[in-house]
Amino acid sequence: MIKTLRSVISLRKFDPNTRRRRLAKCGDIDDVRLLAKRQLPGGVFDYFDGAAETEWSMANNSAAFANVRLQPRVLVDVSNVNTACSVLGQSLPYPYAFSPTGFTRIATSAGELAVAKVAARHGVPYTLSTLGTRSIEEVAKVSSGPLWYQLYVWKDRGLSRELVQRAKAAGYKAIMVTVDTAVFGRRDRDVRRGFTLPPKIGLETFIDGIRHPRWTLDFITHEPITFSAVAGRGDVDGSTAITLSDYVNSQFDASLSWRDLDWVRSESGLPIMLKGIQTATDARTAVSEGVEAIALSNHGGRQFDGSPAPIELLPEVMDAVGNGIEVLIDGGVRRGSDVVKAVALGARAVMFGRPYLYGLGAAGELGVEWVIDYFNAGIRRTMALVGATDLAALRSNGALVERG
Ligand SMILES: Cc1cc2nc3c(=O)[nH]c(=O)nc-3n(C[C@H](O)[C@H](O)[C@H](O)COP(=O)(O)O)c2cc1C
Repeated sequence: MIKTLRSVISLRKFDPNTRRRRLAKCGDIDDVRLLAKRQLPGGVFDYFDGAAETEWSMANNSAAFANVRLQPRVLVDVSNVNTACSVLGQSLPYPYAFSPTGFTRIATSAGELAVAKVAARHGVPYTLSTLGTRSIEEVAKVSSGPLWYQLYVWKDRGLSRELVQRAKAAGYKAIMVTVDTAVFGRRDRDVRRGFTLPPKIGLETFIDGIRHPRWTLDFITHEPITFSAVAGRGDVDGSTAITLSDYVNSQFDASLSWRDLDWVRSESGLPIMLKGIQTATDARTAVSEGVEAIALSNHGGRQFDGSPAPIELLPEVMDAVGNGIEVLIDGGVRRGSDVVKAVALGARAVMFGRPYLYGLGAAGELGVEWVIDYFNAGIRRTMALVGATDLAALRSNGALVERG
């Protein structure tokens, strides 16, 4: 009897690693998002997951990909598909990079170090945020991969200068100036929760902490979270709880304009990418200002609610700037086919933020690995299914038929 049973039932090998077991049950980024939601206190999850006001722009960022359709070409030999591209003179194995996200250590104590390590293992560029919770040098130390530095320009120009120079000295290869944050967007979820960085412990946080013991233990047994770029400067390092909105509005320079870009360039000597371009007109100005790259982005819907989805804006911008500048997009990219659609419409590459944060919150480094494997497989599969053997073929083989 047992012999017969054995011959018809083949048992799956039990994986003793709980995180790996949970990830194995995830089908897509939404599943990883739900896993992160279960692992993280509500305020932390909402800080990652939320967006400005009605969150329409965030939802539209992803939804807009459904309006781009790729019509597959068949009988093309796709036994070898080449996904490589180059961005700012660096070769990337796949056409995507990690967007900068502030305060990553709130998900797990390893924070930016965990994400940067996994990114480096796969050759994915990692962008460290000015609001990072690990320093420029700490991140460089754990990463042998491409690193970019995201700059918010401080009112204190001396501080901005110091950060840019430190990034250059530590081997970062580009400065990404975020230009959509003249003032901070209103994120209603954070407002409702009274969310501060670092979090203030009220009764609600306390109860949430008990319900998420793994996160809480990690949080209370590691050094306090601060803005590492300015660690030790008690006035600005975040050692006193503050809302992100008060922080950004008091510290960053709302007078930043096109005239200041020369200053950033002369301080760093590195290529510049402007992140947060949202019109063809500004894309044209970026070309005439000699900027090397732009990222069409609405900050994942976290700044101005009502801005167009970057994937919607892309064709118009490509018409306006052609090959005059490298164009990337970020916002709402959730699967390999989204990446391929953006490349087919002319983007050099894409970036994404929340997907790797969900991975990190769900399962630490393993979760970030899962996200990379998921995107890589999705990009390869989509290219094979539409009959494109490399990224240039996506733009020339007639695979793209429709949008709107
Ligand atoms: C939690 C979080 C923190 C972020 N922090 C920054 C930041 O410090 N600097 C910045 O330029 N963009 C920041 N962004 C925006 C991302 O760089 C990126 O534009 C956005 O996440 C893209 O949308 P996606 O999350 O749908 O991929 C942040 C986004 C999230 C979700």
